[in-house]
Amino acid sequence: MNNTLKAVQISNNIYWVGAIDWSMRNFHGYETSRGTTYNAYLILDEKVTLIDTVKAPFKDELLKRIASVVNPAKIDIIVSSHVEPDHSGALPFVKEYARNAEIITSHPNGLKGLTARYGNLNYKPVKAGDSISIGERTLQFVPTPMLHWPDSMVTYCPEEKILFSNDAFGEHLATSMRFDDENDLETILFEAKKYYANILMPFGKQALAALVSLGGHDIRMIATGHGVIWRQNIETILDCYSEWAGGEVQDRAVVVFDSMWGSTQILAQTITEAFAAKGIPAAYYDIKATPMSDIVTDIFTSKYLAVGSPTINNQMMPTIAAFLNYLKGLRPQNHKGFAFGSYGWGGQSVGQVEDEMKAAGIEIMLDKIRIANVPTPAQLEEIVKKITEMEVQ
Ligand code: FEO
Repeated sequence: MNNTLKAVQISNNIYWVGAIDWSMRNFHGYETSRGTTYNAYLILDEKVTLIDTVKAPFKDELLKRIASVVNPAKIDIIVSSHVEPDHSGALPFVKEYARNAEIITSHPNGLKGLTARYGNLNYKPVKAGDSISIGERTLQFVPTPMLHWPDSMVTYCPEEKILFSNDAFGEHLATSMRFDDENDLETILFEAKKYYANILMPFGKQALAALVSLGGHDIRMIATGHGVIWRQNIETILDCYSEWAGGEVQDRAVVVFDSMWGSTQILAQTITEAFAAKGIPAAYYDIKATPMSDIVTDIFTSKYLAVGSPTINNQMMPTIAAFLNYLKGLRPQNHKGFAFGSYGWGGQSVGQVEDEMKAAGIEIMLDKIRIANVPTPAQLEEIVKKITEMEVQ
């Protein structure tokens, strides 16, 4: 076992004891190009308290970091903020050392979830408004249901003014430095937006409710479940969440397509140019070249969306079908758009794309663009004209 893995002090007698997953590149479909961390925190008080664990394969890293400051057998309390295994996976392992530890979890969903996964490990369910004293410090529990699982909760320590926020305010970013101000802010905020878009987007109302419930708390540090700990840019990330949860979109367009022999690609290029000529910045994504999770991050705050596919075997391209299925699950808000594509015969794909866009909640703002074989210069001019004349408010 690697003896160089140490706890990192983040406040007096409070330590980060998580794990860094440098190699993670796919988080059940979410492409994580910068890896991630699974953050856990250890508080040395009269009752030694561990907040969250890590994904099971990283259990030795967690244990080693804990053992660098305290014997794991001395842990009295484990707070399980969230049942998802990236945070709870090492719980049974830690319990083998901390045999008498009580596990605090939300009532009823945390209790149900942990029991179903790990059996009875000595749980103490808590509800909104419940708090415990661990000695000099208090831990207050704030449920954040469906942010993003039914069991999710955050923990606030008023004496330290630290919010242990689990998935909220986090990002998938593997880094050797624990704090926001020790990393590149632009990169962190991009990854935080990507995290919100790909994981929290369907739960905007719940995110707003959580922000309201946290509004009365004086926060000097947000100790997240993934990525960096916020201490210098707390207002910035709270403002971003407020904006994202409100579903604010900008006058930007995203054009996503697949192409077989280049005709749909020409349409995508023409549509991108036409948006730009209209003064609307447009991003052009060949679905084969960019991960869906990056495209969705751009769509999230862009008002306009055009999706294109040629027809293959009477269907849209499987790549576009998968993309629209992914988008539909994220329930995007406040977007308008249209479908386009080329075909040799039949040409069913464009109608299918339009139907799936409607099912994803996209308001259709322009009749679908269907072009047989290869678009002629006159047809391309006509597309530009339609987009130029398109109402955009
Ligand atoms: Fe990071 Fe929802 O688990």
